[in-house]
Amino acid sequence: MEVVIVADARSGGDLVAEAVASLIDRRPDALLGVATGSTPAPVYEALAARARSGRVDTKALRIAQLDEYVGLPPEHPESYRAVIRREVLEPLGLDDDAFLGPDGMAADLSEACSAYDRALAAAGGVDLQLLGIGTDGHIGFNEPCSSLASRTRIKTLTRRTRRDNARFFDDDEERVPRHVITQGVGTILEARHLVLFATGEGKAEAVAAAVEGPVSAACPASALQLHPHATIVVDEAAASALTRADYFRQAYAAKPDWQGL
Ligand code: PGA
Repeated sequence: MEVVIVADARSGGDLVAEAVASLIDRRPDALLGVATGSTPAPVYEALAARARSGRVDTKALRIAQLDEYVGLPPEHPESYRAVIRREVLEPLGLDDDAFLGPDGMAADLSEACSAYDRALAAAGGVDLQLLGIGTDGHIGFNEPCSSLASRTRIKTLTRRTRRDNARFFDDDEERVPRHVITQGVGTILEARHLVLFATGEGKAEAVAAAVEGPVSAACPASALQLHPHATIVVDEAAASALTRADYFRQAYAAKPDWQGL
């Protein structure tokens, strides 16, 4: 597990976008797993800037969704499908054909979950999965005590996550759906490269538990410790509870340039 401490959200976004651009150079039709929420915005902005200036060619890129609210139609502006269309597909000039996601409106939700796992496998698996982290240590919508071997399935959000996400629903926690479909922790671990990006002091405790705590379902993000290629990019504030921050800084400063993330 590599921990990279950056000055701020913007430089972190730039660094992660560079890693995505380098993946696309190597593999133009890469399957990029995207996360929603506020944190990844600087990554998508930096990637779109590269695409606009011709520094990366995203026309064959494919995008996979991490999680989705149950019961929000795709046209609802806060459905994650709509968020991804707005923040990722449109800025990169991609259309819906480039997009894979679970159906949060399906009549048979468990079948929709299994179908999504099958679709990811049929697409060759996720090359690079971007992740955020919840203040409670969730990745995707795998809330604490999610099985570390879990597959895509329905989960119930905690009060804390619904409170955290109320800002997207006119600050009304009751309007945040209770149920979601999320790639399981086991599904996420199948991606070839995991990049977790976290910014702000509110994430410091969860980041420290994920990076330095025991591997435990109590902090689903700690499952990244089991992955052979996991990168944690954090700003100074999100790194502030790490006891080994100095070591992480030294290791990154001594890293050869050619290695990338
Ligand atoms: P945030 O969400 O980026 O909006 O903080 C992260 C998450 O819940 O995974």
